[in-house]
Amino acid sequence: MNDLIRIKGKRKLKGEVTVSSCKNSAVAILPAVVLASEVVKLYDVPEIEDVKVLIKLLNLLNIDVRVSDDELTIDPTNIANVDLLDEDVMKLRASYYFMGALLGRFRHVKMYSPGGCNLGPRPIDLHLKGFEALGATITQEGNVIEISAEELKGDDIYLDFASVGATINIMLAACFARGRTTIENAAKEPEIIDISSMLNKMGAQIRGAGTSEITINGVTRLKGCIHDIIPDRIEAGTYIIAAAACGEDVTVNNVIPQHIEALTSKLEEMGVRLEQGSDYVRVFESEDLKPIDIITQPFPGFATDLQQPLTALLTKVDGDSHVEETIYLERFKHCAELNKMGADIEVAPGKSTIHGGKQLHGTDIFATDLRCGASLIIAGLMAEGETVIHNAYHIYRGYDSIVEKLRAIGAEIK
Ligand code: EPU
Repeated sequence: MNDLIRIKGKRKLKGEVTVSSCKNSAVAILPAVVLASEVVKLYDVPEIEDVKVLIKLLNLLNIDVRVSDDELTIDPTNIANVDLLDEDVMKLRASYYFMGALLGRFRHVKMYSPGGCNLGPRPIDLHLKGFEALGATITQEGNVIEISAEELKGDDIYLDFASVGATINIMLAACFARGRTTIENAAKEPEIIDISSMLNKMGAQIRGAGTSEITINGVTRLKGCIHDIIPDRIEAGTYIIAAAACGEDVTVNNVIPQHIEALTSKLEEMGVRLEQGSDYVRVFESEDLKPIDIITQPFPGFATDLQQPLTALLTKVDGDSHVEETIYLERFKHCAELNKMGADIEVAPGKSTIHGGKQLHGTDIFATDLRCGASLIIAGLMAEGETVIHNAYHIYRGYDSIVEKLRAIGAEIK
């Protein structure tokens, strides 16, 4: 795959763009299929690199995956609990969902530690504590984690932080635990509701997903199901921000507006003119935008995944805007790249101040992680001249056909 994205900026975006299914749901749902004893059919799975890697890992477990048009048919009937000691495991964060799923199904899993975007420290202690509470024993040697249990037994688990990954992983492991598991201070992201509704279609007994208390009553078998993954709220947010930055009139379709209220209300506070329907957000060209302050929070707060794209837009807004990052204190690598383009952003631990009102200029810049890449694409669309984004593979990990989608609404990008 070509690893450069080239953008000639200052083109007006106009038209309609359709959001794909949610990456962070898909990357949990694929490992969750390990729990099923029958075929699972998924529709509109996003065509992103993380999904391709997870399909390879399913294949290693002898799970058959067939792709036809918008349908993915996954057959786990001949599953084998092979050790996942393959370098693909380290290519993404979400491979950690095989821990909960294989532990649940086989009471044993041995695999490499997960990789993923470098956003500073990303421990998985809460996942492991959850597995231990269910009765598992964990050994770690270098990069290899082995988790085993004679028996999994439901327990009350309090999460010190409402972690998305730990909530989902404990849900996966607890489906087959004897008795009742309660997750207190559970994460409330829409992806958690999506995964729990898929597991419930398979016969799981999960209640409370989307609230801070989730209960799982263990069952002994899960069947197959058909599932449509929810739209990707971060992809939607990315296009809405791009449209606010360079749009004349852009409609973003396949959106659940309630999932991105924290973003749309901030954009309205800035003066961006929006029209919201039941499944779309239309963005009109807006003048005289005002600076804003945002603090990233777990859902329904402002998503950490959108602070990087939003920062690109804020570089052009007169005055000082402030970003406080409470989830990943080091998620600011995009700022150095934006500064190379003429932005004036100061970064302090956990914070950035964007001295706005700057015209960005195209140059060579580097995507350091997925949402940094999205931020740089938006910056490239806003910039004078040509922007060349290196290490674009980070972007393809999570955005389905982003180059084609932007080109279709008028961007000069290849
Ligand atoms: N944390 C711990 N211990 C743990 C787990 C998390 O200290 O055991 C801390 C993390 O270090 C972080 C905070 O808790 O400071 C939040 O982490 P969380 O577990 O909620 O994040 P995650 O599950 O690893 C998912 C998404 C991220 C998204 C975050 C927050 C996936 C595969 N990843 O990560 O998505 O930023 O939730 O919403 O679902 C992205 O899409 O670009 C991305 C990074």
